Amino acid sequence: MQIRFIDPATNFSDGIKVIRAYHDHLLEQGQRLLELISAIEAQGVDADRASHLAGLYAYYQRANVLHHQDEERALFPAIIGQDLLIDGMIERLTLDHEEIEESWRVLEIDLKAILECHDVPDQLGVKAARFEKLQREHLIRENEDFLPLLEKRLTPAQRIEMGRVMASIRNH
Ligand SMILES: [Fe+2]
Ligand SMILES: [Fe+2]
Repeated sequence: MQIRFIDPATNFSDGIKVIRAYHDHLLEQGQRLLELISAIEAQGVDADRASHLAGLYAYYQRANVLHHQDEERALFPAIIGQDLLIDGMIERLTLDHEEIEESWRVLEIDLKAILECHDVPDQLGVKAARFEKLQREHLIRENEDFLPLLEKRLTPAQRIEMGRVMASIRNH
């Protein structure tokens, strides 16, 4: 099944807006993922749930990679090396990215198995909950603690430049 990825960001004229668009969308998709997994655990996999899962799977495969690249290649470089507090946050957020990616790799194996054989693996709900919780807590920390500091410091020109780098990551 080929599913087209639709980028949650449509406007790359301001890098911070791209980041916030992803955060809103990732938080929403996390809820959809948990609801779907609990339906699959309770009632098994039918054609509708399989197609919903295929969509979410394709979304995460692309969105998480793009979002971490946006932050690590455009957002963090714009602000690093100016303030020890912010540098410490960047270090922690980068480690979170590794942890989120690792928990996705664990969950991804189960999701692939469901899509290929319609089997429901053991511990599926636990793995999905771990991934979603790591992701959600990270996104909330970025929204509430990190982005407000950046919004105070970054100039309009820097925000435009970040958006340009993010667009180039997608080969716009
Ligand atoms: Fe992040
Ligand atoms: Fe983020």
